Amino acid sequence: MKVLVLNGPNLGRLDIRDSSMYGDLTYPQLVDFLRSAAEKHGFEADVRQSNDEAEIIGWLHEAADSKLPVIINPAAFTHYSYAIRDAAELVKSPLIEVHLSNPLAREEFRHTSVISGIANGTIAGFGPHSYELALIALKTLIG
Ligand code: DQA
Repeated sequence: MKVLVLNGPNLGRLDIRDSSMYGDLTYPQLVDFLRSAAEKHGFEADVRQSNDEAEIIGWLHEAADSKLPVIINPAAFTHYSYAIRDAAELVKSPLIEVHLSNPLAREEFRHTSVISGIANGTIAGFGPHSYELALIALKTLIG
């Protein structure tokens, strides 16, 4: 089963982001981790990253049209992008929000997610394992 794994702005530069928040993996290493975790749980992961809101919206439309399940880390868009929220709502297959860090334990502006309300669930704070836990949740939801 194919799963679209979408990553938002600045996640492509984990190499220079705060490793105490986001861990030690570079983005290419995270992608390798995701692909092998997906395989372990019976999925084929199509992993994408963009700094561009419009591109992410286009990928969500693709997931809606192709009825693909989605794991999404919207990064900073989490906290304010109603456009990504509305596009994510069009996805009728399971959609899980993930974060490497735990936004609720950070600055106040990160405490709001405009995505959580339309996601099947949110997994945050476990580094790359947030994505693996999302794959396990997805497997349970798909049955
Ligand atoms: C993040 C948390 C967001 O608040 C932040 O803007 C990110 C990454 C995470 O994975 O922990 O870029 O989504």
